[in-house]
Amino acid sequence: MAQNDDNLLKKIVAHAKEYGFVFPSSEIYDGLSATYDYGQNGVELKNNIKQYWWKSMVQMHENIVGIDAAIFMHPKTWKASGHVDAFNDPLIDNKDSKKRYRADVLIEDQIAKIENKIEKELNKAAKRFGESFDKDQYLETNPRVLGYKEKIKSIEDRMKAGLESGDLESIKQLILDLDIADPVSGSKNWTDVRQFNLMFSTELGSLADGANTIYLRPETAQGIFVNFLNVQKTGRMKIPFGIAQIGKAFRNEIIARQFIFRMREFEQMEMQFFVKPGEDKKWYEHWKETRIKWHKAMGISEESYRFHDHLQLAHYANAACDIEFRFPMGFKELEGIHSRTDFDLKAHEEHSGKKLQFFDQQDNQNYVPYVIETSIGLDRMFLAVMSSAYEEEKLEDGSERVVLKLPAALAPYKVAILPLMKRDGLPEKATEIMEELKYDFNCHYEEKDAIGKRYRRHDAIGTPYCVTVDHQTLEDQTVTIRERDSMAQERIPIADLNGKIAAYTSINQLLKKA
Ligand code: GAP
Repeated sequence: MAQNDDNLLKKIVAHAKEYGFVFPSSEIYDGLSATYDYGQNGVELKNNIKQYWWKSMVQMHENIVGIDAAIFMHPKTWKASGHVDAFNDPLIDNKDSKKRYRADVLIEDQIAKIENKIEKELNKAAKRFGESFDKDQYLETNPRVLGYKEKIKSIEDRMKAGLESGDLESIKQLILDLDIADPVSGSKNWTDVRQFNLMFSTELGSLADGANTIYLRPETAQGIFVNFLNVQKTGRMKIPFGIAQIGKAFRNEIIARQFIFRMREFEQMEMQFFVKPGEDKKWYEHWKETRIKWHKAMGISEESYRFHDHLQLAHYANAACDIEFRFPMGFKELEGIHSRTDFDLKAHEEHSGKKLQFFDQQDNQNYVPYVIETSIGLDRMFLAVMSSAYEEEKLEDGSERVVLKLPAALAPYKVAILPLMKRDGLPEKATEIMEELKYDFNCHYEEKDAIGKRYRRHDAIGTPYCVTVDHQTLEDQTVTIRERDSMAQERIPIADLNGKIAAYTSINQLLKKA
């Protein structure tokens, strides 16, 4: 996949719609910006990603349990967490195009352009030197690359200093100094930079009763913090232990674009791991390693992932990094790993007046635990999986196919059952096979259109196996099974189908590697 491939993103958006993965929300009313609905195939893929995450975090870890907290929380929660005062984005408007941008994103896009230049230098050098090319040495010694790296560092340092000190004038000056133009109009006529709070608010109760302003949660994590003691006590959990949750979060994103990458309503899969103070650094490294392993177990190219340390730490963190993924728009944040200290629990202690501490029997002392958080956007994971799976292939006979090479365990259907013809008892036999398999796998029965067309349809939604029932099946109880990626076909007994499909498509394959 080429970097910054807008064309690829457009193709994925179109494919996702045509094949029932993702639709624009309320499309008959022309849609609502940055909100999307998952269709019949999309919901299966999404549920499979959730299942992979949940099982690997909860089922595979004896010391991690799950919860499902409410979206609405007491308003004090968001005061305590710092979101009321500090959950802001620095925004800038272009006076000519009237478009609004996140100032830090404009600067980061500029950094990405310089990174692309480094990558181009690397590609050129790799071609020039061939086998003997030493990438690391080149990165450390080539004067042009060193110049680019220095430029990136100086931009990052200025941005970090400006954001951390809240000096928004210096952020505007950086945009002017970098000669950044509006990506839409090319204009460089910018307003000042302002802060904008991202939480959606609504009223609880009727206005006449003196309603309270409440917020739609901007992260699921706070539902975990406020339940820390409930879970610790009722689950008799001992530190270190974790609480995991999957759920919706809402942010009034100003620049919500790039399909499901940045939405106003999205889903998070978060885990808070409570540790003894002083052991936070060790566990932060542990979770960085564990999470990247989870990603790589899916078999997506390792080159598609990289770590990126946060330049500007959130108000609650003493260390933080992102796992970035090579999306069609370039490397972008997919998951955050944050060392959140004891900030949240202490803040909730202060605002609620309740103790949120752990009694350590070994040390005979109470303490407020430190927290390592892993937080991944489910929708971003969906886009990562879709975009790395999408392939347009030219076949030997000159024809073309679009195939979604999804990790088999995540595919919406594991197997399609296809009678070769709509007569001679073949549909009945196919239905009988489907009735057997459907207890273990999500199967799809199809008898319409020529068999080749049906294969193509299932390639396009990523079904790992197609099973064809023909006249020979009626005689010797065998079927043809066709594998999606190689398109290789083999004849096997019906009795072997279950074992073969399970061996390739079971989520356990991923869990064992993760
Ligand atoms: N509890 C920590 C937290 O919420 P975050 O980095 O703001 O941290 C975590 O968000 C993850 O949620 C991100 O890495 C991203 O995958 C996802 N995410 C955040 N905002 C999003 C949005 N507007 N649309 C889709 N996913 C989003």
